[in-house]
Amino acid sequence: MAESMQGWKRTCRCAELSTGNVGEEVTVMGWVQKQRNKGGIIFVDLRDRSGVLQIIFEEADCGAEAFAKAERMRSEFVIAVVGRVEKRSGAVNENLKTGEIEVRAAQVRILSEAETPPFPVENDSKTKEEIRLKYRYLDLRRPDLQEKLMLRSRIAAEMRSFMEKEGFLEIETPILCKSTPEGARDYLVPSRVHPGSFYALPQSPQLYKQLLMCSGYDRYFQIARCFRDEDLRADRQPEFTQADMELSFVDVDDVIDVNERLIQHICREAVGLDIQLPLPRLKWQEAMDRYGSDKPDTRFGMELTDVSGVVAGCGFGVFTSALESGGSVRGLNVKGQAAMPRKKIDALVEFAKGYGAKGLAYLSVQEDGSYKSSFAKFMTQEELDRLVEAMQGERGDLLLFAADKKNIVYSVLGALRVELGKQLHLIDESTFNFLWVVEFPLLEWSDEENRYMAMHHPFTMPMEEDWQYIDSDPGRVRAKAYDIVLNGVELGGGSVRIHQNDIQEKMFEVLGFTKEQAWERFGFLLNAFRYGVPPHAGLAYGLDRFVMLLVGAENIREVIAFPKVKDASCLMTEAPGTVDKEQLDELHIAVLSEEKAE
Ligand code: AMO
Ligand code: AMP
Repeated sequence: MAESMQGWKRTCRCAELSTGNVGEEVTVMGWVQKQRNKGGIIFVDLRDRSGVLQIIFEEADCGAEAFAKAERMRSEFVIAVVGRVEKRSGAVNENLKTGEIEVRAAQVRILSEAETPPFPVENDSKTKEEIRLKYRYLDLRRPDLQEKLMLRSRIAAEMRSFMEKEGFLEIETPILCKSTPEGARDYLVPSRVHPGSFYALPQSPQLYKQLLMCSGYDRYFQIARCFRDEDLRADRQPEFTQADMELSFVDVDDVIDVNERLIQHICREAVGLDIQLPLPRLKWQEAMDRYGSDKPDTRFGMELTDVSGVVAGCGFGVFTSALESGGSVRGLNVKGQAAMPRKKIDALVEFAKGYGAKGLAYLSVQEDGSYKSSFAKFMTQEELDRLVEAMQGERGDLLLFAADKKNIVYSVLGALRVELGKQLHLIDESTFNFLWVVEFPLLEWSDEENRYMAMHHPFTMPMEEDWQYIDSDPGRVRAKAYDIVLNGVELGGGSVRIHQNDIQEKMFEVLGFTKEQAWERFGFLLNAFRYGVPPHAGLAYGLDRFVMLLVGAENIREVIAFPKVKDASCLMTEAPGTVDKEQLDELHIAVLSEEKAE
């Protein structure tokens, strides 16, 4: 039978004890990691979120009744122990924080018994992730996950304390909102009171934080839950957390300055990492040209080379036809990989096709100086020599080329570069390369929608010197937008906002909104701007991603207590679920049969 605590008070956590406590009487409580019965002596490894502590039971110290309880103990029982801290009687355990001590039990209570868990609670569990997610509350007992969530809490606390010192106010914004346009699909909540009307869950607090600037709360901060109905990836969840901020009377450099110091503070206080300021800045165009990505991983080289000028007019139709239709030919020099087996190269070609490439042309410079290439027969020796020289190809190098529309070439080679960096172990995992990407384009052409879309969001301020091109060449206009990138992951992003109604209205026009549509959706913001609005700017971090990178997790799920899986469901609660017909009726909702829905 389970006992209650009956007035016992825990004096400390298990692994808070050390040799300095030898001789003290303590009360510890936690889970049985393991019980080992050695005949007259029973050892119990007691676990809580601080770590593991060895308890030693001998009948002479604790009496027959307590010893009998110790005999019954199984993994995951919850127990309380009163005893004295001693130097270990047996061998010291170097792998344990408390490896030099043990607690000699005088009294014990079994607070809760446990059935055999579906998998052992230990790091390096071989159990499939689906099973562990179904029993997330058990998996969360693993020291590995506990450390990550404790660090997450620490990072959030350090963020709050820094922001508070810098004069930011923490203000909560609604979860039941009107749709906020961050480009993803909304999660909708039906209104019971207004038949046929829906709230949207916030994709971000964007509009509210801008309104707070209108209201004079000149520095706002919030750790805000956001919701986006988009396809999940390793660094994406349908609900996630932003560390969100907005500032008044500032420009790009002010936002960057306070955020660099925030990053430095968090890295130092939470993980003991020393970050040198200022952080490097890269213009978007340069990031694309050098890395084929607006979130470059700068921990290794292998930058892209534009060879369009070199191959213009050559005999290889794949290259020349791409150039003739306004595209580009660029290459990667994979150093020392000339001997890469054909099979592996073919796999790279398939990989490239996954990013929209029609193919991938390659040339390897053999040790004797000759070339082996998928396109040598289309080009003269001189053309090939010039190409190899432009690529700074040396004996032993493998050169890969993509020819296509510029944005496809960027995305293919950008992805290939990262893939090769991983495959060839070119990345130093111990470095943290923070980087600002600035001067993003304001707009991005969407073939799907057949119109320009805002690259960041519709409230982003264009760069003054480019505004003149908004009608003649909208794609050329750069924005006062910036992203913070860490090791090839977009950690956060933001922008200076438009605070002038004429520019905002023009933006909506370029984005293809009629005046009516713009007012229907964002009228409250446009109205607010009529009554005195300060220039303002802001930024939001993906907090989950920040934590993921700082703790070295591979997947965002490892730093979220109760994450969702690929199809956006929760394996533990089995959400989403069906609801009663009465509940639907009340919400004025009828569900199409599955067949019809498809
Ligand atoms: P943005 O859309 O770039 O900007 O989002 C900011 C940061 O949030 C993180 N993020 C996500 N993390 C996990 N799962 C997701 N599905 C997900 N989507 C985004 C990313 C991203 O950099 N309102 C603007 C910010 C601003 O302008 O101030 C915004 O939301 O790390
Ligand atoms: P083909 O003449 O189609 O056999 O192509 C010759 C070589 O060019 C093959 O190695 C193809 O993979 C490659 N290739 C085809 N299309 C492209 C492209 N758009 N960019 C780069 N290489 C390509």
